[in-house]
This record gives sequence, C-alpha cells and structure tokens, in this order.
Amino acid sequence: MIIAQLSDFHARPHGRPAYGDVDTNAAIHKAVAAVMALDPQPDCVLVTGDLADCGLPEEYAIVRDALGALPMPVYAVPGNHDRREAFAAALHPHYPHLQATGFQHYVVEDFPVRLIGLDTVIAGQDGGEICAEREAWLAERLAEGQGRPTLIFMHHPPFRVAVDGMDVMPCRVSPGFAQLIARHPEIERIACGHYHRPIQLRFAGTIGYVAPGTAHQVALDLRRGQENRFILEPPAFALHVWDREAGLVSHLQPIGDFGPRRDFVLDPAYPGQARQDVIHV
Ligand SMILES: [Fe+2]
Ligand SMILES: [Fe+2]
Repeated sequence: MIIAQLSDFHARPHGRPAYGDVDTNAAIHKAVAAVMALDPQPDCVLVTGDLADCGLPEEYAIVRDALGALPMPVYAVPGNHDRREAFAAALHPHYPHLQATGFQHYVVEDFPVRLIGLDTVIAGQDGGEICAEREAWLAERLAEGQGRPTLIFMHHPPFRVAVDGMDVMPCRVSPGFAQLIARHPEIERIACGHYHRPIQLRFAGTIGYVAPGTAHQVALDLRRGQENRFILEPPAFALHVWDREAGLVSHLQPIGDFGPRRDFVLDPAYPGQARQDVIHV
C-alpha cells in the first residue's frame, strides 16, 4: 500500500496569488502531476489541511478541479485556512466519506493500513484542538480497529516541534490524549501539515510526522522567540509505504524538474566491490 500525503495547498482565486506573489494554484497542479507520474501509483492521496487560503468557494473550486485529475481515492481534512462549511459544501458531493456538516472526521477501512482523518479546526483561530468530543470519537474508532495498523492524519500537529513560531499554534489536546495514543501501538503515524516543513519526532509511542507544503515553506528558524516567515524552498510531498516486513516507511519526494535519472559510474578508486552490474549508492 502506498499513501501519498499532500499538504497545505492554500488555493487562491484566479489572479490573486497568495501573499502577493506565490502562485499556489500552479503548485497544486504540479503536485498532482507529480503524484500521477509515480510508478507505481499510490493507492490513495491524503490532503492534510489548508486546501484553501481563505476558505472561499472559488478556492475550493480550484482544489476540486485539480484533485479531480487523480484516479485514486482522495481523503482530505480541513486546516485553519479552511472554513469547515465551505470545505464541506464544495467537497462532500464529490467525496462521500466527508460529512455534509459538522466535524470532518472519518475512518477508511479499505486498505491494509486503516486511515483515520481528524478535524482539528477551531473556527477563526490559527491553532487547532482535539476537544473532549473529538477525543472520545477517536478513542471509539481506535477501539474498533482491534489492533490493525493505523495512520491518523490531521492538520494541526498535537506535539511540540521545538520551533517557537510553530509551537504557538499547535493542536491543543487534553492531558489524556498522549495516553490514548500510547495505548494503541498499532498507530504507525500521526501525519500532519500546518508547519510547511518536513518534521519527524517520537510522540506517545508513535511517530509524529509533518509534511511540507506543496507551495511555500516556512523558513527554518531555531532561534527563540522568532515568528514564522515563509521561503520558496522546493515543495515536496510524503509517500508512506506499507511493507509487510518493513512496516510503514515514510519517504519525502521533492516536486520539481531535477533532470533525468543517471547511472552511478564508479571511479576505479572506489573501495567497494567494483561490479558494474550492481547499482551502488
Ligand atoms: Fe498552511
Ligand atoms: Fe495551517
């Protein structure tokens, strides 16, 4: 099973780039094309929030058109730049696993890895939340899984990432949330977006994962007390590959034209076994 995770499209109305000059819409199309160029194709695509930049119907129409090119199932959750009602109105008719109204939670049971999508949005706020109602929903769904490998995906990371500009707007969780996660070692990942950078850490017995954005990235700044600024580093997406022996392996795939694939031509001084029929790395 191959899961592609795209994040933070920040679609904009035609002719109105994000932050003045970031063509997020072109970036969505490049990301979708990059997924479609994969061989083998992913079994499904996750979109971990901020599909729109301002939650406008015109923005969701752009997202819907771009995602419509993908032949595999697409599972999206909203982020702080989305408006839950507009997200649902635009996407629910095309993606029946979404809810017509209310929290956009759901479970996908069609694959070797269960997928649990969580809606962490607090309307009007940068940060997110798993409130008591949402935590109870998650606890019930995890119990139903009976230990099957599971990936949880959501927009706001429920863990600290040691970057002040990010840690001021995480997903607020109860003191019991980490214990709930820890009681379920079948949770292979908590895959998030929101921070527009690749980040990984150990969290509550699982792996916390943050995927980069498909357009702009947040500039890495480990100094204390700094606010986030953005930078046009290469966009990328994650590929979470379920392998019976290896488990769930997360790869990061940059989006762009990096030239053709080239053969390793070994220098005679190379100290390894110089067999030309073996690919060396
Ligand atoms: Fe974002
Ligand atoms: Fe966000």
